[in-house]
Amino acid sequence: MFEFGFICLFVHLVASIPQPPCRRCCDHLPSPDDAASLRKSMPAMPEVRTYINMTILKGDKGDRGERGTPGKPGTEGSQGPQGAEGPKGAKGNAGAPGDACKTQHSAFSVGRRKSLHSVDNYQALIFDTIFVNSPEHFDMFTGKYHCHTPGIYFFNVNIHTWNFKETYLHIMQNESEKAIVYAQPSDRSIMQSQSVMLSLQEGDEVWIRLYKRERENAIYSDDVDIYITFNGYLIKPETK
Ligand SMILES: *[C@@H]1O[C@H](CO)[C@@H](O)[C@H](O)[C@H]1NC(C)=O
Ligand SMILES: *[C@@H]1O[C@H](CO)[C@@H](O)[C@H](O)[C@H]1NC(C)=O
Repeated sequence: MFEFGFICLFVHLVASIPQPPCRRCCDHLPSPDDAASLRKSMPAMPEVRTYINMTILKGDKGDRGERGTPGKPGTEGSQGPQGAEGPKGAKGNAGAPGDACKTQHSAFSVGRRKSLHSVDNYQALIFDTIFVNSPEHFDMFTGKYHCHTPGIYFFNVNIHTWNFKETYLHIMQNESEKAIVYAQPSDRSIMQSQSVMLSLQEGDEVWIRLYKRERENAIYSDDVDIYITFNGYLIKPETK
């Protein structure tokens, strides 16, 4: 029979690829006839193939090598997409209070409960009731508004006429007559009024003047209701 198993290191049987069988050098070679008869008598005999297991031949694993130098930095990447909108911020603190001196404001509204007849001299209409005097630019003793802020002002006066007497007053800026309040004598007494806007400079005075006796005139009032009022306020301060 055919001998194998004690040659080389390992022997594998391979069925598909025909290979010459391994044998010892000292084995006597069969004659060509024997070989032929052998092949004839064992056609399905598996062929043999050697294979070296390299794992056995390998040495032990070596020590770990030194760390290499770091590589060059890479190229810069492209810009990313815009982020989503952030949440709404908290409410801020209140601002510091403004300068009170910067407030350009002046208004007055005064009334009179007493009637008045003309005398030999001109008379300034004096008032006894304050509705508004803010800040106190209207002088209740003289009946005159004092301008502290140059600018455009609105003034208005309302009176009640005296029946069978003339009504004759002026809205005055200092000593000049700016607008008249006039009514002829009549058997009926009525309300009359006048309004005007004036451009004032600092120190100007605005007041109501009753004409003197040469034109006998009067304004009516009783001590129950207020028929006579004088009003004024700053509309627009002068811009410097
Ligand atoms: C090779 O030899 C190693 C160590 O003896 C063994 O673990 C492994 O299974 C063998 N590999 C093959 C394919 O025989
Ligand atoms: C009005 O009178 C006041 C006080 O006398 C004065 O300061 C001011 O200059 C006068 N204004 C005009 C326009 O004359």
